[in-house]
Amino acid sequence: KRIVILISGRGSNMEAIVQACEAEQWRARIAAVISNRPDAKGLQFAASRGIPTAVVDHTQHASREAFDAELARVIDGYRPDVVALAGFMRILTARFVQHYHGRLVNIHPSLLPAFPGLHTHRRALEAGCKLAGATVHLVTPELDHGPIIIQAAVPVLPSDTEDSLAERVLAKEHLIYPRAVRWMVDGVLDLRKGIVTHRDGDA
Ligand code: GRF
Repeated sequence: KRIVILISGRGSNMEAIVQACEAEQWRARIAAVISNRPDAKGLQFAASRGIPTAVVDHTQHASREAFDAELARVIDGYRPDVVALAGFMRILTARFVQHYHGRLVNIHPSLLPAFPGLHTHRRALEAGCKLAGATVHLVTPELDHGPIIIQAAVPVLPSDTEDSLAERVLAKEHLIYPRAVRWMVDGVLDLRKGIVTHRDGDA
């Protein structure tokens, strides 16, 4: 199987997937890491691991449709079975999302359906949440609303700042995202009913 990972910046979730793929000897390889920003830090890590990298710069495209079309063209050149958004900070058109139906996953730093969109940790603190967390979900046209594959929760501490909470959640992201991508690769998820279930029950 072939996995394509899309990033916009640091790429620590991408790194976690790359490392798990190697360490656990998945029946898959990372076919490419693609960024919409030429200066994304994660590109260096990918290149250092011998993973093909590509940039599709959104600022060089006149419209969202044109950007998405070019992005899909580049992605499809790698014939991916799974496309993982890992800190990819562009909203995708419905056409793009539908093209990757059942293959496209995202990680979001909140316990969805709470706090879709940006500034999740700030909003969780402002709401007085006692738990926060992260969610891996299938991507559907509505932002951060697709069927949930896996979640992890962390406590919110009275002393927390946006940064300290983000750090605690990120550590969980690095555990659950590789696990979810592995389930996709292994084909053990039932994606048919709009609610994702693991074939072997809970895992
Ligand atoms: C992560 O918290 C991800 O959930 C969010 O943006 C951050 C990206 O971090 N959407 P990284 O690029 O994977 O290090």
